[in-house]
Amino acid sequence: MNCETVRVQSGLLAELGSLVDFSRFSRVALIHDDKLADVAARICENIAPKPATLILQGGESIKTVAGAERCWKFFLGAELDRESLVLVLGGGSVCDLAGFAADTYQRGVAVVYIPSTLLAQADAAIGGKTALNFGGIKNCLGTFRQPLLVLCDTDLLSTLSPREQRSGFSEIVKIAIMRDVALFQEIESASDVMSAVHAGALRRAVQLKLDIVACDEREAGVRRFLNYGHTFGHALEALAIENNTDLLHGEAVAWGMLAEAYLAQQLGLLGPAEFSRISAVIKRFELLPNREPIWSFGQVLQKISHDKKRRGSLLDWAIPQAIGRGVVRSDVSPEVVEMAYQSTKADRIHHAQSV
Ligand SMILES: NC(=O)c1ccc[n+]([C@@H]2O[C@H](COP(=O)([O-])OP(=O)(O)OC[C@H]3O[C@@H](n4cnc5c(N)ncnc54)[C@H](O)[C@@H]3O)[C@@H](O)[C@H]2O)c1
Repeated sequence: MNCETVRVQSGLLAELGSLVDFSRFSRVALIHDDKLADVAARICENIAPKPATLILQGGESIKTVAGAERCWKFFLGAELDRESLVLVLGGGSVCDLAGFAADTYQRGVAVVYIPSTLLAQADAAIGGKTALNFGGIKNCLGTFRQPLLVLCDTDLLSTLSPREQRSGFSEIVKIAIMRDVALFQEIESASDVMSAVHAGALRRAVQLKLDIVACDEREAGVRRFLNYGHTFGHALEALAIENNTDLLHGEAVAWGMLAEAYLAQQLGLLGPAEFSRISAVIKRFELLPNREPIWSFGQVLQKISHDKKRRGSLLDWAIPQAIGRGVVRSDVSPEVVEMAYQSTKADRIHHAQSV
């Protein structure tokens, strides 16, 4: 995967016919988010014969084995074979589910992602990872397999709600904190999420991720840095799924980033001034969920104990040791983990009272 296989640009979909040679494939099928019916119709106009289509309602709840089964049945019904192509149009949930199904159908058919949320363009559709939630564990099942092409048409972002924009921005802030101090400084001086995105933050985040994936596709080294915010974040998300609580992926990650920055500070890695800058960005762009955390540390710890980054009794924490510089540490005591979680709870309560 490289900058030739990932394009970030306005108006890309108008060029779809020249970007993908559909005649190379025995069959083409399209899976899309139901909110993108108009875009899907425009895509279908460019492909002859018209692709078989499966419409999914985007959202975390579709990332299940039952969801994958629905996709596999659709592939069978559409008579896809190993020379076929699956086009996926949607946010991270649709990309994760449809990508997983395509990667496992007949040991993998070609996939082109057309991510439609900021979160999917900045992160979920980049790097060839797919996932389903299973057994109460977030992203418990999944694949590593690179798509043929990823087309990030920034025009698709114009219909996103401000809340979804902020959720996607969390992943851009994350990669800046772990890899690129200059990007973080640009974010600090931006007036709002979308002006930062259009000024180049999205393109830079994608390039940073591509560089990481190029040297560590299977997450054995530097790619683990991208898990910053995701140890707490995934635990909170798993609890939210179980309890039917409205919590977006990027909101859970922002919460996790704040707690894990605190943890880095407790370990003596991150200085107070840098902690404050991280905290200020997360709060100024309103990346945190709009409610106080309701789960006890015990509930969160139970979820963390199933985290897939666990190696035996050790858990790897991807945390910043400075802005722009990440590190992975496994020598973190349960007391420090609890302190980090409680600090974030207190922080949220304080924030809620002060607005
Ligand atoms: N595979 C990876 O490497 C990776 C990385 C990061 C996140 N993820 C996963 O991504 C998921 C979150 O992605 P997401 O935030 O895109 O969620 P999502 O797919 O649920 O989309 C969020 C909402 O936006 C709607 N939507 C999609 N496109 C739209 C558009 N253009 N205009 C208006 N609404 C639109 C969807 O219907 C949905 O309601 C999580 O499941 C997370 O685990 C995966």
